[in-house]
Amino acid sequence: MPNFLDIDRTDPGVLRQIIDQAAGMKARRKDWPRGRPDPEAPLAGRMVALIFEKPSTRTRVSFDVGIRQMGGQSLVLSGNEMQLGHGETIADTARVLSRYVDLIMIRTYEETTLLELAEHATVPVINGLTNRSHPCQIMADILTFEEHRGPITGKRVVWCGDGNNVCASFIHAAAPFGFHFTFSGPEPLDPDAEIVAAARHEGAEIVVERDPWKAVEGADLVVTDTWVSMHDPASTRERRHNQLRPYQVNTKLMQHAGPQALFLHCLPAHREEEVTSAVMDGPQSAVFDEAENRLHAQKAVMRWCLGV
Ligand code: CP
Ligand code: NVA
Repeated sequence: MPNFLDIDRTDPGVLRQIIDQAAGMKARRKDWPRGRPDPEAPLAGRMVALIFEKPSTRTRVSFDVGIRQMGGQSLVLSGNEMQLGHGETIADTARVLSRYVDLIMIRTYEETTLLELAEHATVPVINGLTNRSHPCQIMADILTFEEHRGPITGKRVVWCGDGNNVCASFIHAAAPFGFHFTFSGPEPLDPDAEIVAAARHEGAEIVVERDPWKAVEGADLVVTDTWVSMHDPASTRERRHNQLRPYQVNTKLMQHAGPQALFLHCLPAHREEEVTSAVMDGPQSAVFDEAENRLHAQKAVMRWCLGV
């Protein structure tokens, strides 16, 4: 089944094909009204379920708009309004939804929910974020980097902050896309050691540098994300802020990185916490192109899943 569950579970050739197709589809739509359908309407007659167990702006809107542009139809479902949130098993939910729709995207908490859904569904499943990873985001990030700076292969990507789900998907992407990855954050918030070991096993260069100033020197891309993710208990907020404050991406840090460094953030951002407004709105930032590219990247992901 052509599921899009994680970058490290997807063939590197397919990943490259998705990025290239996304870039092509984006170019063809340049300056078109948002609601004009793509000429080939590859999703005509297809029904897609979008399930959200956590809040979302970008994922929700970009998938929905992408499906409509490709001539398909979408159902946006919130987990707690489904029987899924009231005791029906994930396996039964997967079997039932597979009788109604052609493709399922889910944003959930535990990775096991995603994997169980994919195991029992007879239609493809897309990961729209779990506590552990966010692969669609990193596809959009690579598309964005390459638009601004050319091929990402051989480039230096530096993550400043929490070793969270978005960071994990960057680490997954390091081997298949051939970029160097440096994690710079406090030890208690290191990325999952198994994910790092697996990436190294695949040939990726993954470096840990506790000093953010050293880490960003000469970087091609500096990335950060919120200090408190949706699945993190509110009680950890103060501790996390104290641990992560030295890793704030501000103008001084970006200047230290150098003018070649692009800045990305998956959003939503907490301005003046993990990143300052001066960086977010500054000349090195491509965060709104990045948000737009969720649309183009996911359209190509959905086409691959459906083989259309
Ligand atoms: N970046 C991202 O996934 O944003 P949303 O939470 O708004 O979907
Ligand atoms: N790390 C963040 C990403 C949000 C898109 C979270 O999981 O809340």
